[in-house]
Amino acid sequence: MLNDLTQQPADALLALIKLHNTDPRADKIDLGVGVYRTGEGDTPVFAAIKAAEAKLVAEQDSKAYLGPEGDMGFVEKLMPYIFGKDSPDMGGRIEGMQTPGGTGSLRLALAMIKRAGYRRVIVGKPSWPNHNQICADLGLEVLEFNHAAGGAADMDALRAALASAMEGDAILLHGCCHNPTGIDYTDAQWDEIALLVAQSKVLPVLDLAYQGLGLGMEEDAYGLRRVLVAVPEALVCYSCDKNFGLYRDRTGALYAMAADPADLPRIMSNGHALARANWSQPPDHGAAAVRLVLEDEALTKQWLAELDEMRERMRAVRAKLAAAGRTGGVDLTPIGAQNGLFSIIPFTPEQVQEMRSRHGIYFAASGRINVAGLTMGNIDQFIAAVADVTG
Ligand code: LMR
Repeated sequence: MLNDLTQQPADALLALIKLHNTDPRADKIDLGVGVYRTGEGDTPVFAAIKAAEAKLVAEQDSKAYLGPEGDMGFVEKLMPYIFGKDSPDMGGRIEGMQTPGGTGSLRLALAMIKRAGYRRVIVGKPSWPNHNQICADLGLEVLEFNHAAGGAADMDALRAALASAMEGDAILLHGCCHNPTGIDYTDAQWDEIALLVAQSKVLPVLDLAYQGLGLGMEEDAYGLRRVLVAVPEALVCYSCDKNFGLYRDRTGALYAMAADPADLPRIMSNGHALARANWSQPPDHGAAAVRLVLEDEALTKQWLAELDEMRERMRAVRAKLAAAGRTGGVDLTPIGAQNGLFSIIPFTPEQVQEMRSRHGIYFAASGRINVAGLTMGNIDQFIAAVADVTG
């Protein structure tokens, strides 16, 4: 029977890690999977996290189980950053639980809506490939709409998708730093989206995986907060992988907003039951380190300063790409106004291959580049390679 299983392709994004690692060229460039890199090309542990980890080693006196909800101190400490300091639980309507990374949170959110009777999820195209993959694995139908047109969000496509949506549909929205396009909604567009989502009665599932890496911690939460005040119910999937640099420690959270605080325990009991059936309890280390950062004013300041530095570096890379303007057959200008780790350059599949084979530059087949993989030391090499393969 096991013998009947069909061969599955390796995950295309994760496979890039190995492809790049095995390339012997000294000047190769990795613009594949979404990890932040410094101007020296490293992905160091945040200094604030290092300090919290030292504290954790010194002070943690037990590793006994915490339960399917994980570290609730971590879950609660994040809430003012996500939902705002004024009403971090929206009057008792929001509760959360720890999950293994953003993917764990998405898995739980989508499994929860399936249980609740939702059958269709409206997703922008393109989206992070794992969104559609998790929906498919859970048997949820995906309804796609065009995310971007002419370098901006395609609001007409979103309006049409919401106009034809039915009660019982959900919509998956990227809170900030759209993956893979880097094309975010403006504040004015979010104002409209909040109204449209409320009118359409679809359930918003907001994926916030890059808070602080776009325009700032507060700015990157604008859309999410606008949607939450407009609707009765919502789910929020949060990742600390990037904004705390915890990637392999798998640190995330799922939050549910209920119409009535009295509904929350019942809703969350489903999250707990699903977690138990999937991974039982989330891994502790990353969440405990984040909690220790957020419990300590000095460490919190240090973390926010580190995040500012990352964001500014990516802005500088984007500005330099944009300044290159028309390069070969593509225009790099729009990259300057996009947000977060990713942008898409309209390479053909052959050009993606040539960037790898001729220039040792690795990125997703969609043309998505991780701009954080570029440094002031390799960016000219990248621009020259783009000119070469697209010219
Ligand atoms: C990415 O899109 O590269 C990141 O979110 C990492 C991942 O798990 O795919």
